[in-house]
Formats: sequence, C-alpha cells, structure tokens
Amino acid sequence: MRIAVIGGGPGGLYFAALVKRRQPEHQVTVWERNAPEDTFGFGVVLSDETLGGIEEADPELYAELAAGFARWDDIDVHLPGGQVFTSGGHGFAATSRRRLLGLLQERCRVLGVELRFQEEAPPAAELARSHDVVVAADGVRSRTRAAAAEVYRPELDERHCRYIWLGTDLVFDAFQFHVLRTEHGVMQLHGYPYSDAGSTVIVEMREDVWRRAGLDRMDEQESVAACEKLFADTLRGHALRGNDSRWIAFTTVRNVTWSDGTTVLLGDAAHTAHFSIGSGTKLAMEDAVALADALHTHASVPQALAAYEEERRPVVASTQRAAQASLEWFENLEQYLDQPGWQLAFNLLTRSRRITHDNLRLRDPGYVAEAEQEFAAAGTPPMFTPFRLRGLTLRNRVVVSPMDMYSAQDGLPDDFHLVHLGSRALGGAGLVMTEMVCVAPEGRITLGCTGLWNDEQRDAWARITGFVHERSGAAIGLQLGHSGRKGATKLMWEGMDDPLPAEQAWPLVGPSPLAYRPDGGQVPAALTREQLGELKEQFVAAARRGAEAGFDLLELHCAHGYLLSSFLSPLANRREDEYGGPLENRLRWPLEVFDAMRAVWPGDRPMTVRISATDWAEGGNDTEEAVVIAAAFAAHGADAIDVSTGQVVSHERPAFGRSYQTPFADAIRNRVRVPVIAVGAVSSWDDVNSLLLAGRADLVALGRPHLYDPAWTLHAAAEQEWSGPGVEWPVQYAAGSRRPQTGRRL
Ligand SMILES: Cc1cc2nc3c(=O)[nH]c(=O)nc-3n(C[C@H](O)[C@H](O)[C@H](O)COP(=O)(O)OP(=O)(O)OC[C@H]3O[C@@H](n4cnc5c(N)ncnc54)[C@H](O)[C@@H]3O)c2cc1C
Ligand SMILES: Cc1cc2nc3c(=O)[nH]c(=O)nc-3n(C[C@H](O)[C@H](O)[C@H](O)COP(=O)(O)O)c2cc1C
Repeated sequence: MRIAVIGGGPGGLYFAALVKRRQPEHQVTVWERNAPEDTFGFGVVLSDETLGGIEEADPELYAELAAGFARWDDIDVHLPGGQVFTSGGHGFAATSRRRLLGLLQERCRVLGVELRFQEEAPPAAELARSHDVVVAADGVRSRTRAAAAEVYRPELDERHCRYIWLGTDLVFDAFQFHVLRTEHGVMQLHGYPYSDAGSTVIVEMREDVWRRAGLDRMDEQESVAACEKLFADTLRGHALRGNDSRWIAFTTVRNVTWSDGTTVLLGDAAHTAHFSIGSGTKLAMEDAVALADALHTHASVPQALAAYEEERRPVVASTQRAAQASLEWFENLEQYLDQPGWQLAFNLLTRSRRITHDNLRLRDPGYVAEAEQEFAAAGTPPMFTPFRLRGLTLRNRVVVSPMDMYSAQDGLPDDFHLVHLGSRALGGAGLVMTEMVCVAPEGRITLGCTGLWNDEQRDAWARITGFVHERSGAAIGLQLGHSGRKGATKLMWEGMDDPLPAEQAWPLVGPSPLAYRPDGGQVPAALTREQLGELKEQFVAAARRGAEAGFDLLELHCAHGYLLSSFLSPLANRREDEYGGPLENRLRWPLEVFDAMRAVWPGDRPMTVRISATDWAEGGNDTEEAVVIAAAFAAHGADAIDVSTGQVVSHERPAFGRSYQTPFADAIRNRVRVPVIAVGAVSSWDDVNSLLLAGRADLVALGRPHLYDPAWTLHAAAEQEWSGPGVEWPVQYAAGSRRPQTGRRL
C-alpha cells in the first residue's frame, strides 16, 4: 500500500510508525510543513490507559517514552484568599512535546517512513490519486477538512475564554489550579510538570476579562510579562517563557463523518477536547493505534476506515462530553466564587463528571472525609442529610420526580396511584411528588391524567397523603398544572403527544394561536384576559384542595411547554399585550398565578416551581432567561426551583447525556442563590452525592430510576452500607435489607 500522511504532529507520526511497523512493505510518507525541531506547546499529559495502549502497540517506543516521564499524584487547588486544597492519588504522567515528537520522528526513521519536513503537503484530493490511503492528521485547522467540508460537515464551536500556552523552569510537584480574583475579573492558571526541568503553564480567562485586562493588545513578550506579574506568587520568582505563544479561543471540533473515500481524518482534525482534561495528544495517539489496527485487519480500505470510525467515535464523544462540561465550568467559574473554599475545590475536581465523590474517595479518603465533614459529617453520604424548606424538613435529598401515569378515570386517583406513590414513599425517598395534577378537565394532557377540580378528587388524594404520612417517613408534594396547547393527546403508550381523535378532543388554549405540533396539531385559542382570570381561580381552588388533602409541598408546573411554560417561552408566546413580548411581560401571568396560590397555600408549607431552563431551540429561552425566571419566582416566595429543560417546542434539539440538565440547576443555584432540585439522567447515587457535595444542587429528583426500582433510595443506602439516619428500612422489610445473591450458588 502507498500511504500518505498529512501532518507530522503526534497523531500523524505515531500512525506512520505503527502502520510501517506492522507491514514494512507499505510505503508511508509524512508531510510536515515545519522543521523537525519546531514545536508549539510544552508538555503533554498521558494517562496510564494511553500508555498501556502504546506499550501494547509499540513496546520499543513505550520503553523509550516511559524512561523520561514526569510522574505525580496530587492536584493542588489554590483559591483567592490563599486557601489551598490538595487531593491525592490521581496518577499523572507527562513528557515534553518536543521529546515526544523527537522520539516519534526517530521511530519513523528507524522503521523506514519517509519524512518530508518543511514541505507543504499536496492537497488530499491530489494525494488520493497516487495513494491507497490519505491520512489527514493536519491539526485543528485542517485544510483537508475545509476543502471537503460538504462531506465531513464539520461543526466548529469557538468558545468564550482566551488562553495561552507557556512554559516555566519551575518544576511543580502537583497539578496546579490557581484561581485569581483581579480587578478585571477572574483568571485561572493550569500548570503541570513535564520533566525535571520545567512545567507547562496555561493562563485562561473569559474574553471580556482578557479585554479589560488589556491582554488583547499585547504581543507575546508583553503577555508573558503580564502573566508573570499576575501569577508572581504561584511562580515563586521563576520566569515564564513563550514558544510562539498566542492567546487562543478554544474551538471544539466535531465532524459528521471522518472519511471521504480513501481519505480519513485523525486527531485534532477530526475532533478536539478542551485542554483542561488533558486529552488532545492522547486522543490523537489512540486514533493512530485504532487506524493502524483497522488497516491491518480489514480487507478493504473503506471497511477499515468504517471500523476505525466505529471504534473511535463513542470514545471521542464521551471524552468530548467531559471536556465540554469542564470548559463550561471554567467559563462560568465566577459564579462559584462565593462557595466555601472546600466546596469550590470539590466542585472543581468533579467538574467534568468523570471524577465523582466515590472515586475521589478511593483516590484520597482523607480529602473526601474532610469535605463531608464540612457538608454535614465525615462518613455520611451527602444524600442522607436532611433538608429544610420552610416548616418542612425532608429526611434526605432524594426526590421522586413527578411522573404522569395516565391511569385515572375522570381525573380521580385510585388504587393504582395509592400503590404507585405509596410504594415509592416506602422506598426511602425524602420527597415523593405526584404527577402533574390538572386544575380543570380541559387542563389535562390525556384522558388518563389526574385532577383536583372537585372534592371527590381531593378526598381520593387525602387517602394517599394519609398513607404516606402514616406509613412512611417521606413527605408528599403536589404538582399542579394545566396542559395548555399540549392537551388533548393520547395516552403515552398509545402515541406520545399524538392528538386525540376529534370526537374525544377538547378545544385547546394557549398564550397565542400557535400549535405545538405544526404538522397538523390543533391550534389553540389565545386566552382572553377574562379567561386568564378564570384559569387563575382554577389554580387557586386546586391549591386550596391540595392543602386540605394534606400535601406537604406544592409545585407549580411551569415547564415542558404546558400552559404556564408556554407563557414563559418566546417561541410559544407571541402576545402583544402585557403578558407577551419581553421576558418581564411573559413572566407576568405565571407570577400572578403563583402569588394567588401562595396566598391560599399554608404559610409554613413550601412552594416550588418547575421550569424548563432551556427550550433547546434557536430563539427560545436559555440559561440567561432561566436565571431571570428563577430569580423572579424566588423573589415572589418560591422556596426552591425544580430545574428541568425542554419539551416546549417540537423542533427542540436537546443535548442528552448523563446529568445533562444539571448545569442549568447549578447556574440557577449559584447565581440566584435559591435552593434547586436537579433532575434528568442522574444515573447513580454516586452522582447524587457528587452534585450535592459540589454545591450544584440541594435536592436531586430521579424519575425513570424510580420506575425501575421503587426502593431506589433504600437500595442506594444498602449499597453504601449506610443504615441511617436519613433513611430507614420499613420494619416490615428489614429482613430484606441486604442485596440478595444473584446467580446460582452451590
Ligand atoms: C499552541 C498549542 C499548544 C499546545 N500545547 C499542548 C501541550 O503543551 N500539551 C498537550 O497535550 N497538548 C497541547 N496542544 C494540543 C495538542 O497539540 C493537540 O491536541 C495534539 O497535538 C493533536 O495532535 P495532531 O497530530 O492531531 O495535530 P497537531 O499536533 O496539531 O499536528 C498537526 C501537524 O500538521 C502540520 N500540518 C498541517 N497542515 C499541513 C500541511 N498542509 N502540510 C504539511 N503539514 C501540515 C502542522 O504543522 C502540525 O505539525 C496544543 C495546541 C496548540 C494549538
Ligand atoms: C413516564 C413519565 C412521566 C412524566 N410526567 C411528568 C409530569 O407529570 N410532570 C413533570 O414535571 N415531569 C414529568 N416527567 C419528567 C420527569 O419528572 C423527569 O424530569 C424526567 O423523567 C427526567 O428525569 P429522569 O432522567 O430521572 O427520568 C415524566 C417522566 C416520565 C418518564
């Protein structure tokens, strides 16, 4: 095979060496526009996992590489005011980029790869005519990718911070994070050693801070001098140095496809991951291993390229999710500066969601015990600490999220609801929420939704709250709502959001005559002022009945595109009166409803509001609006905000993933300073503990996990070997409080 490699960075060189090592008869040529000794950056961090891959793929290279590694275990977090927190047991290894490239170039020479330095590669399309495979390892600004953008369909997401790579001869003994409060805003330094002679230093800040500090007008030398001055304490008198260093805005690169015929993208050309999780070089080198393997094991080039992409895509996507969480955390660092130091440090360490409470404990039990002690008590899982809202003290931080069961007749909860909610209350959660209970028959989503528009329904609910109070230690909350333009649909299992046939449907209402589903959904009638008044009274009457029925907490459902939510969203509310237009106006009616309910809801019982913190759609509400909405409800007396997202418009594009909604809860909690309930794909008790300890949530709601396991909280306690306080097995179930054996035993 004739193989052309565009770019002699770590990805291109390593691939060339591996493919030649496997099959020496291949002709492999690398074009690199720079000279062999030119390189940007200073040190590269490689994990044990990547090193293991290198050892297996090329033991000779591994032996040489491993000999000169800087290795260390600790992460130091330095906070404004001089507090320092050290967490150990992390296991890093790094080397200088120059050394890594030198070793890779040497491997290529020994193995017979043709290296053409200081030579611009011919375009990929031209190389493809004379080569069997063209590997475009031409970096983040890949020309190959740009030339065939219609094939690769790149998405380039330029981020909001500026950063610069620098070096110093100070050899750090730990990974360093320094958070600096300056008159211009917050800046941070990331530092790590790469040899016994020096360390990499990255200085980063939001673009507005960078401009205010005048760094945008400085050349390399001036920037180096400014950074030296800013971080003089950190550098302890040592100098910084640049290496053709510039202030860069990080760009996350994604591509819909990685290959075009026999040309394939590798490394930064295909994908980038923010430097704060230290993965760019690692990903490029892992790509190289996978591509060389695929070309060796598959009969045809297209098959090999498909296999390479299939293997690498999920790994890259997972790394990019972690990198995204990490870069956003640093972009928003300012919002955490008032957190107690121990919590800010824990928050920083767990920012990418890859490191959690539990695996930090494995790495450094002492560090985690100290954080737990600050939160409540060392050794107490944060989820099993109580939480108080007005006169209500919840036994723990777990909430059964509201879930519509679509199983009522005429809005009346029955034995199904008693058993369903009752078993979840016995299952250990601190708070069990009802499904959205509708304030009027026309406010139902489906014919199976429950309601609270008559006394019979009130009494049926009282039976359920009575059971929960008498037989479990849980509290029970009522979620009240009105379906608005999303009403009159079929039961979930008969077609989610599908309209009912005309003979069963009822006329819909909303802020504006805009259908939720533009493809044939019913167009709602815009509510008149008079109707708004009547509807408000329906909410008030339902709240009164809810209090009489004995609910401990009342949640107003202003999320998911139902009536109140559609008032908040500019995509559903196009009114021209005082209830539409700017956010202040869109908030008016939901706040009026809230105030009217608060007035009749007992003063010692809390009220929460569920919002969709983003519409996941162009022109819709997003974090900034969510912060304003949350602040408005908090100012009107909401005791907590239950932070969900989306379902407001049918053309939404949510970015699903583990805990994907928690950054919104986090922003609201730390910017508005109101308690929040986080929810959405929170997958484990470890995630719940991590969110609480990091101060990203006060309560955590789980929906589907409670459908899988009504006793989710009891099982979480058993798995953590925790027997209270905060959770107690019902006496009737005590004999089953240990996980049963699974599988066959002799
Ligand atoms: C300024 C800077 C400093 C960095 N410092 C570090 C660091 O200290 N540690 C770390 O882990 N990561 C660092 N990174 C990130 C890291 O470099 C990348 O994630 C990693 O190098 C990706 O490897 P790659 O082989 O895909 O691409 P690159 O390393 O970018 O290599 C691409 C190569 O292709 C060459 N090239 C491009 N087009 C052509 C062409 N048409 N003809 C010939 N040659 C071409 C370029 O000159 C370049 O050498 C840094 C990135 C930048 C931009
Ligand atoms: C079957 C089902 C019904 C739901 N009904 C409601 C509801 O009535 N009110 C509400 O606010 N959210 C409702 N949700 C959303 C959940 O409360 C929760 O926010 C969502 O499922 C994400 O959390 P999870 O990933 O833990 O399931 C429902 C979810 C499911 C799965």
